[in-house]
Amino acid sequence: MTQHLTVVTHPLVQHKLTLMRKKDTSTASFRRLLREISLLLAYEVTREPELTTTEIETPMCPMQAPILEGKKLALISILRAGNGLMDGILELIPAARVGFVGLYRDPATLKPVQYYRKVPSQLDARMTIAVDPMLATGNSSVAAIDLLKREGARNIRFLCLLATPEGVARMKDAHPDVPIITASLDQGLDDHGYIIPGLGDAGDCMFGTK
Ligand code: URA
Repeated sequence: MTQHLTVVTHPLVQHKLTLMRKKDTSTASFRRLLREISLLLAYEVTREPELTTTEIETPMCPMQAPILEGKKLALISILRAGNGLMDGILELIPAARVGFVGLYRDPATLKPVQYYRKVPSQLDARMTIAVDPMLATGNSSVAAIDLLKREGARNIRFLCLLATPEGVARMKDAHPDVPIITASLDQGLDDHGYIIPGLGDAGDCMFGTK
């Protein structure tokens, strides 16, 4: 995956995203759609892993068959909304190792502060997929990737549902080596850092905490 930003234009992804954006979509529907869309996005984000071959026997004859090479992939949820993407991705990649990064924005400095971190071992040997549905200002995404790099991750992808030009530019500036995969590049941010047109607070939509 060489390009920095990939917008997944698959019709199923776009259709599901439209349903998720509607303000009267219920929590139950939002969750179901999020699970379905994250599975489709996971398909796109996992185009790259190296394959090797292994000798197997089909009912007809022996063959050299392709198999994934290397250590199990690491999936990192950026709390709390990242958790909403996990089920769908894990359905596709059930053997993935899972980690969590918790960040909050300090009200005085507006800088992201880490409050939780638990990541799989040997990140340097794994493809690492960081997930957060909303790439808005990019501040917390950049901080989460900083942290993953400090933990040794080298081969990182960032998966989100919606991105903004501001967030993408901020990520490209800080982490040009980290490709971003998203379902939509939205218009921009409002004065409170919400994505326009967006879908509101993703955590509230998926957890029903509005
Ligand atoms: N986080 C959200 O949940 N929604 C936005 O629009 C921006 C950040």
